[in-house]
Parts: sequence; C-alpha cells; structure tokens
Amino acid sequence: MNRRPKLLVTRRVFPEVVERLQPHFELEGNADDALWPREELLRRAADRDALFVVGSDRIDRELLDACPQLKIVATGTVGYNHIDVAACAERGIAVTNTPDVLTEATADLGWALLMAAARRLSETERWLREGRWNSWAFDQFLGADVHGATLGIVGMGRIGSAIARRARGFSMQVLYHNRSPAPNEAELGARRVALDELLRSADHVVLVVPYTPQTHHLIGERELAMMKPGAVLVNIARGGIVDDAALAKALRSGPIGAAGLDVYENEPKVNPALLEVPNVVLTPHIGSATRSSRLGMAMLAAENLVAWAGGQPLRTPVSA
Ligand code: DGY
Repeated sequence: MNRRPKLLVTRRVFPEVVERLQPHFELEGNADDALWPREELLRRAADRDALFVVGSDRIDRELLDACPQLKIVATGTVGYNHIDVAACAERGIAVTNTPDVLTEATADLGWALLMAAARRLSETERWLREGRWNSWAFDQFLGADVHGATLGIVGMGRIGSAIARRARGFSMQVLYHNRSPAPNEAELGARRVALDELLRSADHVVLVVPYTPQTHHLIGERELAMMKPGAVLVNIARGGIVDDAALAKALRSGPIGAAGLDVYENEPKVNPALLEVPNVVLTPHIGSATRSSRLGMAMLAAENLVAWAGGQPLRTPVSA
C-alpha cells in the first residue's frame, strides 16, 4: 500500500490516542462522539482499511460485505462478542481486543457492586435523600455479611482471579465455576465446582464469563431459584448472561436478596421491571471506567493498529 491506510475511529478517543494514530493513518474520527445510526456506520466504514470500534458497533457479515478493503478491526474493549470473528477470519481480516489493561478496575467495580448491593447502599441513600431518616433502629436496613461469606465466581479468567484475590482480605471462601481448572486456583485458595453447586452454596455470586451462545441466559429462573436466601448476584460481564426479566421477578419474590448490575440485555435500555425493584444497584456499564483503564484500552487498540500499519506482529490478536 503506497498511501497511508484509511482508519475510521467510531467514538471519541483521548487526544494522546489520536496523536499516536495520526502519523500512521488517514484518520476519520468522531470528535462529537455522535451515536451514528447503523446506515451511517456502514457508509463511513465502506472505504476503510481499518476500523477502531467499541462494543456498540456490530461488526457482522453485512458490515464486512460493505467494506471490501477492510483488513483489521481493533476493538477498544476486552469483550468481542459484537464482532463476528469467524467471518473476519474467512476474509483475512485481523481482529484485536484489549485484555489485561482493565482487569483491576473491573474487579474493583465488581466488589463495589457486591458491597453496595449487600449493604443496600443505593436503597438507603435514596431513602435518606428523601428526608425519611428520623431515628436509628436496631433492625433498620439490615443487609448481608460480605466478610467471612462464601463467594462464587462464575468465570475464573483474569477478572475472576482479580476478584478472588480481593476476597482474601475479607476472609471469604471462594468457589468458582469454569470450563477448565484455573492454573492459579491453589494461589487463589479457590475450589472449582459445578455451576449448580456454586449457586446452591455461595452466599454471593459474581458473573465474569464472556457472552457466547453457550452463556446466553446462563442465569435464568431455574438458576435464580437455586440461590441461597438473601444471596447477592453481581453481573459485570455482559448483558444476556442473566435473564433480566427473571431476575427482576426473583428480586421481588426471592430467594435472592439483592443484585448489582453493570450490564444489561438490550443495553443501553434497561428492563423497566429492574428499575422498579429497590434491591438492585444499577450502573451504566462502567466496569472499566477509570481514566487509566480507559486510556489503556484505547491506547492498546491504537498500538495494535500502528503495529498492523507497520507490518509488525499484533499486540493482542483475537483468534477465531
Ligand atoms: C469491555 O472491555 O469489554 C468492557 O465491557 C467495556 O466495554
């Protein structure tokens, strides 16, 4: 290629990331961070050699057909369920993601949601702001213990391990469910069990598995019914892993006590039934939202693109 490759960056990124990309690409960005309708994304992407995308950009066969020159898709996220990686591989299009750089921030948010849901922080703050606090009482807003409890982690990858490491400081027992044994299970003091056993035994459950056809509605009515009375369920993985309608029902009728959610089916729409139940803490997909983590993600996507433009090995390729 004698010319600089054409790159489309679908969302606003940090100035240092633009600076890193600029010398290597003919770059079209999205300085206003406008939400492009699908047709506009297809139109803007059509003559591009490279795309820098995020989780809301669906990279499917339709888009790939519309982009005959496309050679690389770099997503600024660790999750890549929005990309048809097999279809990219068939066409010789490389795909990269952003592992590691967001692990600790996302584990922190998982813990924040666990603590907030167990100790009813959103519910009590709303109550206080409404001016309803007149006196202290022994049985006021009793929550669930986190320290010394049994934590169930579904998905023991990088983020799951980071959550398990934090559990030590809370003297928790850790159970986990994963397709294969985690190589670090002895170091983490964690025991691998079947999903049903985890749901029946854990006081609190955190979901950190990738979204795939196999994990769609992994937690539905049947699984929620197995959980311990008062248990907390946290989802920081992906919408669709939990059946949100079934969860809203279980939050009303038990046995679970509370939930902490950062991700939703049909994001950014949230099932209205979830908005109506008091015992759920809701955040808008902010798991990785610290400056260092989000900058790290965007910069890693840029480094992959720069490596590709220079004919160098990709930093974090995704394989089909
Ligand atoms: C990711 O990187 O996959 C996070 O969910 C942020 O979108």
